[in-house]
Amino acid sequence: MAGRIPQNFIDDLIARTDIVELIDSQVKLKKKGGGYRARCPFHNGNNDSSFSVNDKQQFYHCFNCGASGNALTFVMEYEGLEFVDAIETLAGQLGLEVPREASIQSGGKPAPYIDRKDSYLLMDDIAKYYQQQLLQHKNSEKVISYLKARGLTGETAKHFKIGYAPEGWDNICKRFSRSTETNKQLQEAGMIKLRDSGGSYDFFNDRLMFPILDRRGRVVGFGGRVFDNQEPKYLNSPETPLFHKGKELYGLYQVKQAHKDIERILVVEGYMDVVALWQYGIDYAVASLGTATTPDHIHTLFRHSSEIVCCFDGDKAGRTAAWRALENALPYIQDGRTLRFMFLADGEDPDSFVQKEGKESFERLIGQSLPLSDFLFQQLLAQVDMSSSDSKTKLAQLAIPLISRLNTSIFRQMMEERLTKLLGIELEGLQKLLPKEQGDEKKTVKNKTTPMRLAISILLQHPNIAYGLPEFPEFKEIQLPGLNLLNSLLDICRVNPNITTGQLLEHWRETPESKQLNQLAVWQNDVQEDKYEDLFLDILERFLNLHLNNEIEYLKQKARSNEALTTQETQQLAILLSEQKQN
Ligand code: UTP
Ligand code: MN
Repeated sequence: MAGRIPQNFIDDLIARTDIVELIDSQVKLKKKGGGYRARCPFHNGNNDSSFSVNDKQQFYHCFNCGASGNALTFVMEYEGLEFVDAIETLAGQLGLEVPREASIQSGGKPAPYIDRKDSYLLMDDIAKYYQQQLLQHKNSEKVISYLKARGLTGETAKHFKIGYAPEGWDNICKRFSRSTETNKQLQEAGMIKLRDSGGSYDFFNDRLMFPILDRRGRVVGFGGRVFDNQEPKYLNSPETPLFHKGKELYGLYQVKQAHKDIERILVVEGYMDVVALWQYGIDYAVASLGTATTPDHIHTLFRHSSEIVCCFDGDKAGRTAAWRALENALPYIQDGRTLRFMFLADGEDPDSFVQKEGKESFERLIGQSLPLSDFLFQQLLAQVDMSSSDSKTKLAQLAIPLISRLNTSIFRQMMEERLTKLLGIELEGLQKLLPKEQGDEKKTVKNKTTPMRLAISILLQHPNIAYGLPEFPEFKEIQLPGLNLLNSLLDICRVNPNITTGQLLEHWRETPESKQLNQLAVWQNDVQEDKYEDLFLDILERFLNLHLNNEIEYLKQKARSNEALTTQETQQLAILLSEQKQN
């Protein structure tokens, strides 16, 4: 297993990549003021210039949705890549090989970033093996007649790389476990399990296999269905470093392959639904993997399309699942995005429906699906007895927390109006009850101005002002919230000429401080362009004085107490006092 990517390589990569060029190749940028602007690629808004790219800082930021980061963050977010993959993408563009440090560091700490290339290849080989077994295994006839009975064609099976995990507990173990290393990888990928008594056995045995592809088309897991009525009906790969159920969506890769611009995505419940819909020409369906629709799913879905239709069974469980999806989706709703809900008759699922009624009937149902607002009020009104005296209070109590989770302006207003009509009150009356909507440009940061925040934000935005500054050993002795962070920032900026905001922030990726640092990097602290350097130095001086005053206070206290000052301390006090006077 390859080791950690050296930090200086990452620094170098970011220094060599021009963020303006990088982003401009994906999102057309327009020059505006001192930087570049565009419509934000991370949310569907109408504002053509909420997304700003700062050439000098090598940093981007959306005033509206708050997305921000350096070149590496952009590649991760825009292409949906993990850290290591994004590094490889950037390095590839520059024609660089990604170096690795020896895998175990001297402290014995395991490398935090692991090269998973080999595991992906292994999973891909296993998927191919299953596909081959579907045609060649002695049970092949049983499997193929099952597919036929379910109305699936060979073309469909091929499109989704459907395969057969053969009967037996050691097919994968025997065939793929060639070394201790691969054995570990198979285990880590959830394909084999260890026996308590030693040795290992296959996770999947005699099942119809649906490979789950990530957004780059790599096999990250499987869903396996039994051929009879045994339980569980579907066995899914466990959570592994490659496979996160709450993030992946079955079929999304195929939808992306089929459409350059995805007009609409249909979210269904099962593997078979996605597969059957595709066979009938509905090639924009995805399924969550036996989990509820998570906020991550919603986020991903809206990144790919502005219209999402969630399809559920018509029974109580389906309504409950839909409601959960609605709650998770509220923070992601924006003007220009739509989320709708459709419910099938009890006992039907998209697979059975489309096979019986065909594409047109199914799409007619999609056309009749309920807009989010209708579904929301329908569900709320079902919980309230409108003839009772406290019904309006109850409705307001249920609706207000939901409406206040909406960020969007027009849609939120529409919902508020609808609620006021139901409550029979004026809009102003309702607005008093609602938490204030945050204004566009100021939404990202509502930081109270403190000298520390100001100093850190100035340094993040203009890292060059600290180049060549001396070290302040006194800073290590003062207890002040944020000072450690400021010290670490100073340590980097002091010795790195021309470091950019984007490079500087890279040192804090995935740390608890990173969120706050990102906010401070885009904080509009209202400091004038020609004043920030003076102000920064002033603040540093204030911190130094603070230290001075603390020292003086300590010595004075000691002098007042029974302990006498040593000669040395008396001298020191005199020096400190004279310094204090000079300031
Ligand atoms: P369903 O029980 O609705 O099955 O589960 P289905 O999709 O209609 O499958 P067929 O038509 O009987 O083959 C919906 C989804 O829930 C997850 C699977 O992702 C499945 O596609 N599930 C279901 C499991 O993970 N495990 C189970 O045991 C059952
Ligand atoms: Mn089904």
